[in-house]
Amino acid sequence: MQSRGLALITGIAGFAGSFLAEELVAAGFTVCGTRLRGESTENLARIRRRLGIRVLDVRSREACARVLSDIRPEIIFHLAAFSDVGASFADPGLVMQVNFGGTLHLLEAVRQSKKTAGSLRAFINVASSDMYGRVSPAQLPLAEGQPLQPVSPYAISKAAADFLCATYHHAYGLPIIRVRAFNHAGPRQRPGFVIPDLAGRIARLELRAGRRILKTGNLAARRDFTDVRDVARAYRLIAQQGKAGEIYHIGSGKTVSIQKVARLLCGLARRPVSVVQDAGLTRPVEVPVLQADITKLKKLGWQPTISLTQTLSDTLDYYRSRV
Ligand code: GDD
Repeated sequence: MQSRGLALITGIAGFAGSFLAEELVAAGFTVCGTRLRGESTENLARIRRRLGIRVLDVRSREACARVLSDIRPEIIFHLAAFSDVGASFADPGLVMQVNFGGTLHLLEAVRQSKKTAGSLRAFINVASSDMYGRVSPAQLPLAEGQPLQPVSPYAISKAAADFLCATYHHAYGLPIIRVRAFNHAGPRQRPGFVIPDLAGRIARLELRAGRRILKTGNLAARRDFTDVRDVARAYRLIAQQGKAGEIYHIGSGKTVSIQKVARLLCGLARRPVSVVQDAGLTRPVEVPVLQADITKLKKLGWQPTISLTQTLSDTLDYYRSRV
């Protein structure tokens, strides 16, 4: 089969990166990616032999320029990021270096090399719904024109990178598409996010005798969850059919409380588990609710296909296989 194009995924060995790599390989793309030194490629086990993988820390400007000029991708999916919102409060400097600095280095590498820019058809920058901050219920569902009001170091770093992408598109005509992903979940997501945190705790509790108490953080928050496999398909569609300069949301269009997510997960547990909120797991500032307006993405022919219950069940099975 003739290749559909040469795609580069930064952060290919991670959660969404690995599913996107599978999606692109299955669709006939030639796929390269970058991972951090020492980062496991376990997530890529199914397709490892079909990928070209380079070690890259996006905090190095020179290394970004080297990788891009060696590979000269037609599509760049920039996924490499510090993505844990709660942990971003502990190391805001690192978050800015990776999320803002990394995006700047990649964009500069494209801008400064005619050859790299010449072969590029699309630069998909993945930002986050967390950038919208503490919106009021009346503003839901959130459309792409919603003003950004970031309230975490993570969201600030992503908003800065998102603005930078808009500037590089307008100033230099780079074919940048800005994607704002709402929460995604599924197997391979590491702890630090609510669904793998709760699924991992339940998998360990299932092995324990006596009272089983599931500790959680804030249960009142509401989020818009999409299965990572649907998200990977959305990234591919946006790269193929999206328009440079545009912003696209990826989400389910529905919002669900973390309380309900915890209840559904406990319902899937093999032994009875009770839920207790733990003040130690809450954040200094919280985004109460997020819900995407996905009209634009639906116009590209996308809609979510995997139910939240299926995502939770698959994630729980993933953690059961690891405890
Ligand atoms: N992590 C975590 N662990 N969160 C918990 C827990 C817990 O044990 N208990 C309750 N929560 C609450 C958090 O306080 C938050 O309100 C909600 O569950 C979701 O938390 P996360 O899964 O950590 O996601 P997030 O919404 O902060 O950020 C995620 O979504 C963004 C898109 O909106 C991350 O995946 C970001 O990288 C992503 O950009």
